[in-house]
Amino acid sequence: MLIVANWKAYVEDIGKAKKLFAISKRFSKEKGNKIVLAPPAPFLSALTLRNKSNVGFAAQDVSQTTGGAQTGEATAQSYAAVGVKYAIIGHSERRAAGDTDAVIAEKLSHAVAHGLTPILCVGEHERDSEGRYLGFIREELTNALQSLAPKERTRIIIAYEPLWAIGKNAALSIKPNDLIEMVLYIRKVLAELLHGKNAARTLIIYGGAVEPDNIRELAASSRIDGFLVGHASVNPHIFMLLLKQLV
Ligand code: PGA
Repeated sequence: MLIVANWKAYVEDIGKAKKLFAISKRFSKEKGNKIVLAPPAPFLSALTLRNKSNVGFAAQDVSQTTGGAQTGEATAQSYAAVGVKYAIIGHSERRAAGDTDAVIAEKLSHAVAHGLTPILCVGEHERDSEGRYLGFIREELTNALQSLAPKERTRIIIAYEPLWAIGKNAALSIKPNDLIEMVLYIRKVLAELLHGKNAARTLIIYGGAVEPDNIRELAASSRIDGFLVGHASVNPHIFMLLLKQLV
């Protein structure tokens, strides 16, 4: 299982950041699980530069620009320079702040160019009984991937994050059967965008109200490769409980 802890702007204290990192190091020794932390950018180098563990690090976003006179921007290249290996791109909170599909495609291409593995977030706002949400996901995936070269497309991890689940609790999260349906659907769309066996090899993770109460059931029954965890990844006690469900 790949567990990506998206700290968003919840963690604002370096002591807490170090504590969450220590917990992750402990659990990353368990075989079969890979933990990737996505702290707010200012904490990254304090955590990455002395990292000898197999905990990985992700940027929560990368700039659309490639550097220069761009006050306030943090480029893919600068993240890569401090040991970051992944980049969350197209998170719904960034899309709400103005990231269009075209911007997301550009960010993906910068990330790949600097050796980062993009974690591309897609997810519908709501579910309708006619299944229009499936078309919405297809469009998000196609728009993001079609501008990349075939080889670059194989580098991407897909995070399926329905907006109606984000920030809710386990009881309001997705049900395993609905998640199975979506994983199969995403693989079908990927098969149209990737060559040969690559669609089957792409990692698909789920995010949206993943908590200690539902992670085990979702992991066991939904063919998912991992999780993108928000609020349950920023409280050391709850994060530890969550990780314990997977060992
Ligand atoms: P959540 O957020 O776990 O708090 O629902 C997940 C995400 O937005 O990545």
